[in-house]
Parts: sequence; C-alpha cells; structure tokens
Amino acid sequence: MQIVENQSQQIIKAGAKALKSGNLVAFPTETVYGLGADALNEKAVARIFSIKSRPTFHPLIVHISTILKITSWAIEIQDYVFDLARDFWPGPMTLILKRSNLAGNFITGNQETVGLRVPSHPVALNLLNEFESLGGLGIAAPSANKFGAVSPTNSQDVVEEIGSSLDKNDLIIDAGQCLIGVESTIIDCTKQKPQILRPGSVTQELISTSLGFNVNFAVKTNIKAPGILDSHYSPKAKVVISSRANAGEGFIALAEVPTPKGAIRLTSPKTIQDYAGELYIAVRKADHLGLDKISVVPPEGAGLAMAVRDRISKMIQKNFG
Ligand code: TXA
Ligand code: MG
Repeated sequence: MQIVENQSQQIIKAGAKALKSGNLVAFPTETVYGLGADALNEKAVARIFSIKSRPTFHPLIVHISTILKITSWAIEIQDYVFDLARDFWPGPMTLILKRSNLAGNFITGNQETVGLRVPSHPVALNLLNEFESLGGLGIAAPSANKFGAVSPTNSQDVVEEIGSSLDKNDLIIDAGQCLIGVESTIIDCTKQKPQILRPGSVTQELISTSLGFNVNFAVKTNIKAPGILDSHYSPKAKVVISSRANAGEGFIALAEVPTPKGAIRLTSPKTIQDYAGELYIAVRKADHLGLDKISVVPPEGAGLAMAVRDRISKMIQKNFG
C-alpha cells in the first residue's frame, strides 16, 4: 500500500490506472474518505467488503463524475431527481434510484436500487474523470473504515482503519482533512415523493426549498442502509449525552459550554459546521487516549445539527447494546 501526499495529475492518473487494473484506492471526498474500487469489477468490490468486514447485503454508493451519468446506472428516474442533482451535485448528496443492469448485485446487495453520488472534492472529481477517460463508468466507495466504526476524515485515520489490509498496489491519496466531516445526505428517490434516509449537510430545509414541497425523513424503510442501523459510527469509548463528566472522562460540546472540572475537552467547535467537521476526530482522540467514556452535548436546532445529532445517537445506541 502506498500513501501519496501530493495530488499532482500524475498521482491522480496513477490512482485511476490502479482502479482500472482492479486495485483499491482510498481517496478524499468533501464528506469523509472513501475506499474506492471499479464499480464494474466484482473481485475488486469483494475486497472492499472483506477489508471492511462489511456484510455483503449492505450496498455501496457508486460515485460518478457528472449528472449525465445517472441514466447509465439508473432507470425509471423521477423528474425531481434531476432537480436535486442540478441543485446539489457535485456535492454531499447520495440518491437512491432504481438500478439499471449496469449495477450488479455485488454493488446493490441484491436490491433493485443503486446509490449514486457526484462528489465535489476536486481530487475525487479529478480521479473520477481520469478513471472515466480510461473507460471506467463509476467508482464504488464506502467510507474507508471498518464496518460500524467511525468514518476517517483524513488519510492517517484511513491508515489506522484499514492500512494493514491494503496491498502493495493499492493507493491512499492524501489531501488533508475533509471539510464537512460527516457522510453525505442519502435520499430515497424510488417513490413519487423523496424521503431522507440519512441526514447530512444537504439539509431537509435545502432539499424542501429546492423541490418546492416538504421532504421528510423516512420513518420505516425496507431499504438496507447501515447508516440507518441502530449502531454505527462508533468509537471504543462509551458515549453518553450529558453536560457533566467526571475527571478523566472525555467531553465534547460547542465552545460556549464549559468543560466540567477535570474532564478532558476533546473539541470546542464554535459553529455547527465545525461540530460536524470535528466530531469524528474528537471521538478518535478519545480512543487514542484510551478513555472509557465520552460525555457529549449535542448541538440543538435544524439543518446540519440534525446530522450531527444523528451520528451522536448512533454512537450511543451501540454503547447501550
Ligand atoms: O459521504 C459519503 O456518502 C461517503 C463518501 C465516501 O462518499 N460514503 C459513505 O458510504 O458514507 P457508506 O457505504 O459508508 O455509506 C453509504 C450508505 C450505506 O448506509 C449504504 O447502505 C447506503 O448508503 N446505500 C448505498 N446504496 C444503497 C441502496 N441502493 N439502497 C439503500 N441504501 C444504500
Ligand atoms: Mg460508512
């Protein structure tokens, strides 16, 4: 496995070539780092599942370079899908659509749907374009962490999560810290009305405004998305919601919330954007320090705060079994 710290065109081309030859490439997106494989290469995709210890029925997102590629991967597309794609792609939004024949069972977990996303990170887009210039049609990429663990938001965390499982021909492209820090918004677009499956920085308000009608969160779904399982995004430390913490325990809250005496402040974000950007780094820090417990004061309000609360609540549910 090779970690490359510059994103010269030569490196991006090497990454695209590695993917096309059936190797894996971990790459930055604006949300979190992904572990990529050629979405048409069953063997390469199988390695992603094995490296992540991810159950094979959990589908992968296919990353594409442009809205124009939707019709290669999906069929029977609702009109509103193009409105969403125009407003939020490239960007942190994944659309669940009825799949075309291109999307194999090994991508979709045997479901009749496929998740598509055009990322906005310049390195991700550049890699996609180079990959497509070699004849590639899409890069399948889940977050580059072990199944159920915290997504990596920088290349060191990718190495920590999966570095030892990568081969010498695999690549990790480093481009520093991801700006957004929580995974993309997932929207089920298979029905007449879209439903949000996973909150992210493309918020319910933005989606509703874009479409001109209210879009809600899915209450119950038969769509299998690990991000909506009870336990996910979990550190080793036990996470509780509390503004109190004992000495030696971890503490995460907005900067305005004072640190309980003796507690170890893991981050002090000033804004919700910073909270999202720093949450995963903060819980990883707790694990590095070997802390048993983290008290978290979740941010209030709508918008991105919902995504932050969602990830925090997933961390807690795991800890409570
Ligand atoms: O921000 C992100 O979305 C990152 C970056 C790398 O793009 N990717 C990511 O992938 O978070 P992953 O696999 O860790 O989470 C994607 C979620 C999973 O919960 C998966 O089950 C769901 O998307 N998903 C993918 N395809 C689906 C489908 N056809 N139907 C329902 N859910 C799907
Ligand atoms: Mg994930």
